[in-house]
Amino acid sequence: MADDPNAWWREGVLYQVYPRSFMDADGDGVGDLRGVIDRLEHLQWLGVRGIWLSPVTVSPNADFGYDCANYRDVDPSLGTLSDLDELIADATRRGIRILLDIVPNHTSIDHAWFKESRTSRDNPKRDWFVWADPSADGGPPNNWVSTFGGPAWTLDATTGQYYLHNFLPEQPDLNWWNEEVRDAFDDIIRYWFDRGVAGFRVDVAHMMVKDAELRDNPPATSEDSFMDQMRGQLPLYNSCRPEVHDVHRRWRTIAESYSPPRLFVGETFVGKVEDVLAFYGDGDAFQLNFNIPFAECPLEATALRTTIELTESIIPVGCTPVWTGSNHDLSRFPTRWAGGDPLLARCALMMLLTLRGTCFLYEGDEIGMVDTEITREQVLDPVGIKFFPYAGRDPERTPMQWSGEPGGGFTAGAAEPWLPFGDLSCNVADQRHESDSMLSLCRDVISLREALPDLRAGAYVSLDSPTDVLAYRRGERIVVAINLGTEPEAVEGIRGEIRCCTDRSRDGEKIEGVLSLAPSTAAIVLLAR
Ligand code: NOJ
Repeated sequence: MADDPNAWWREGVLYQVYPRSFMDADGDGVGDLRGVIDRLEHLQWLGVRGIWLSPVTVSPNADFGYDCANYRDVDPSLGTLSDLDELIADATRRGIRILLDIVPNHTSIDHAWFKESRTSRDNPKRDWFVWADPSADGGPPNNWVSTFGGPAWTLDATTGQYYLHNFLPEQPDLNWWNEEVRDAFDDIIRYWFDRGVAGFRVDVAHMMVKDAELRDNPPATSEDSFMDQMRGQLPLYNSCRPEVHDVHRRWRTIAESYSPPRLFVGETFVGKVEDVLAFYGDGDAFQLNFNIPFAECPLEATALRTTIELTESIIPVGCTPVWTGSNHDLSRFPTRWAGGDPLLARCALMMLLTLRGTCFLYEGDEIGMVDTEITREQVLDPVGIKFFPYAGRDPERTPMQWSGEPGGGFTAGAAEPWLPFGDLSCNVADQRHESDSMLSLCRDVISLREALPDLRAGAYVSLDSPTDVLAYRRGERIVVAINLGTEPEAVEGIRGEIRCCTDRSRDGEKIEGVLSLAPSTAAIVLLAR
């Protein structure tokens, strides 16, 4: 069965590049677009179908690219527009599509729109952002708190009104009720599609539209998620508003006007699977949406099975789930899920690559990179600056480990990397030559997926298995079984051949009824006809 060329992403493996940390071609200690071009060979060899580039647009970097000062140009620290054009062309030649990151919830405080907007109450750009009068006591207009802590409002002395920021004060929220804002983004999206960009990952897709009346959020209770309890309130009125779907559908219409249709991937950082799946609409909104509740699940067979089954049972017909374990906001899965145990990390990788749907790997996942310890002096992330040592995203953002040499193969320059290196003994160059490495496992499972339609596209069905084993069938003939426990386990009723095992010495083993699995071992079995 050939994949639908209009949905190249559906069964593919996509790969997130965090450009500042991927590859530094100019030797200044910060990764750049020329570096990404230099490393395309690795991604082609690995077999990924697309790259999501975290923001490369102009940014003063209060939030490392997620505060955008110009949506139509490349940040000089990362390169130029022509570097990006070259990257798109080179990647396309290699069969790899490029997705950009678009940040529509907010701009940078340095964006020309906001600079204008704040000059006076009657400026034509005033209504492009969310401005409101102080409350009766002179405080913020309502009780909303920022995702990064503290009030979501800052008073602007020039006009005596508050502006809304669901993240940093340097990230003012756009007003998506304003038609001109919608039109401006339609143009930005088309501008990039016309340049050959295959789609966008949409930052904070769930928060773009706020309650038109700016009503107070209700307090969180002990029943609510950890995040909501930390925040002290349920984000009822500044998140997941029903009207946000209209904007997403409008963008989808633009995507469908291109051939092949362009892709939108929502960053839907919400607490419940049900809330993620709402962002598929009736299959007419974003094609993919990040399943954060899955990523935040513990690496335990029962919890994972419950979340996967829930996702599979309520996702709208014809829609595709997304599986991811790490990104630049989440502790890396070899640390968070596997606690640094390489065998468990291999099991987790095999799960990510064998569930039905689109898998997103984060740079370094393929070699089992763990989080890097960061000292207080080394913290750069604004969340880390505020909450060290309890929170912070620098540990998962340290440079890609290409080799064990000084500079880690990341930079040829004398400059120190912008964040410190992790343990360089875990690196691409060494693992590429080891048939038993995590990197070889990753590449082999991706190529198996490309070779076996059942593994790539077959329906997901949970199988009965011991409590600590996550086991499922894909399509007619593939079984995946993952022993996440500490005891040997057996899955019965399996006849076929192991096509890939995390214990590579078992590749090719014939199974005549019972698949035995040592602790922290996973296998893909092709069932006998
Ligand atoms: C989600 C991004 O992934 C994160 O890095 C950023 O800080 C927030 N959105 C705000 O843009």
